[in-house]
Amino acid sequence: MTAQSIADAAYIIAALLFILTLAGLSKHETSRQGIVFGIAGMAVALAATVGVAVQNAAAIAVTLLFVAVACGAVIGLWRARIVEMTGMPELIALLHSFVGLAAVLVGWDGFFSVENNAGQTEFAGSLLHIHHAEVFIGVFIGGVTFTGSIVANLKLSGRMKSAPLMLPGKNYLNLGALAAFGILTGVFVGSPDLGLLIAVTLVALALGWHLVASIGGGDMPVVVSMLNSYSGWAAAASGFLLNNNLLIVTGALVGSSGAYLSYIMCQAMNRSFISVIAGGFGMEAPTSSDTDYGDYREVNATEVAALLTNAKSVVITPGYGMAVAQAQYPVAELTQKLRDRGVDVRFGIHPVAGRLPGHMNVLLAEAKVPYDIVLEMDEINDDFADTSVVLVIGANDTVNPAAAEDPGSPIAGMPVLRVWEAADVVVFKRSMAAGYAGVQNPLFFRDNAQMLFGDAKSMVEEVLRAI
Ligand code: TAP
Repeated sequence: MTAQSIADAAYIIAALLFILTLAGLSKHETSRQGIVFGIAGMAVALAATVGVAVQNAAAIAVTLLFVAVACGAVIGLWRARIVEMTGMPELIALLHSFVGLAAVLVGWDGFFSVENNAGQTEFAGSLLHIHHAEVFIGVFIGGVTFTGSIVANLKLSGRMKSAPLMLPGKNYLNLGALAAFGILTGVFVGSPDLGLLIAVTLVALALGWHLVASIGGGDMPVVVSMLNSYSGWAAAASGFLLNNNLLIVTGALVGSSGAYLSYIMCQAMNRSFISVIAGGFGMEAPTSSDTDYGDYREVNATEVAALLTNAKSVVITPGYGMAVAQAQYPVAELTQKLRDRGVDVRFGIHPVAGRLPGHMNVLLAEAKVPYDIVLEMDEINDDFADTSVVLVIGANDTVNPAAAEDPGSPIAGMPVLRVWEAADVVVFKRSMAAGYAGVQNPLFFRDNAQMLFGDAKSMVEEVLRAI
């Protein structure tokens, strides 16, 4: 048995483990098990790949491989240990950019070892043409993923404005780039040339940048899962070039599951899937911005405590600010205290509250809030009209009535928690600043809404003391 055939068998086992990972991750109860399958699959894949390299490559190449794996492992462990939960999406976006960059480099390497290697190739006839196409497609998908993911990282970390870039004729720019890719591919397959490869790399890098820059903050969750999908297809393209079946299977798994996740998220947020993946195709620039909503009312912790102790029912709608403030522990304590006094307390969770899917559920579970009082948006939205008090804790876009009432709003059409229907709403935040999507929230100016300014954790603790 050769090292390659052992590796091929190991790749099949790894691919099965990756499929079990996805199955495990689809439910809360089995997600830990899913992660264990994923780690095992990756360990098997890495061991098999390194094993083949040790058999076939020169000593210097093997040494370099071990140094690279060790550096990557140390940096990966360090970053994963220090990352805050709120910083996860930007870290994931950065990791996607590495997959894109790797696909570009693999494509270029394929070009230099075959197309640019004067006749020294094992490919002949149509196989050679297929190789030309693989190089070109791999470089294109990789380039789009690379710059797109970097823009996503910059937007998510707040180093770039989250508002959509609205270049004139942006849809034509995207279509033009796609058309250029199609034409260049045709020419390259006929007669491969370094100039064409440079051209497609530049087109892909520019397109990736423009696609993601054109998408507004509110739609970023979908973009992150879309880039996840692109990174999968980039890996699959590299798999074809490297003749590595595991990379093809894994890339296809990531590509298709990421595309499906994007589709589900688009449905949850009432967005057109095609429009989002095409860089906001057909979306118009928002019209309303400088509307004067009047005055807002401020309240203090003692008044909120009085409101809560007299309430029959309370719904808490947490958002990104609860995560930043790490307010989930005092929130859980407040919940317990009110329930002990006979107040009906429940939570309403928006599907994109926070910065990653399930963000709020994880925080509340961490603070031991019982699962049965944590409801999804659709389960609780009809109950707000019968609710005495809603506590909006560090949430903004997810409770913005403009999404439901103002067709000119950048988040128009996105389903939101209809908190304004309750008798009283108290908003915990530090200032009148906008949320992630960068739009003003008319909720704050409604007659039944009051603002409790300050860090969410300190403010909830103050309310607790006052109770
Ligand atoms: P946001 O609209 O982002 O609003 C969060 C609010 O929390 C801000 O207005 C901020 O106001 C307040 N805040 C921040 N730090 C705080 C602190 N220490 N104490 C108290 N308040 C604090 O949050 P959301 O309602 O959860 O909506 C999520 C947004 O993120 C959506 O637009 C969504 O599309 C986007 N997004 C979601 C995801 C996923 S998958 N969930 C991924 C990427 C983006 P102040 O600055 O005035 O305090």
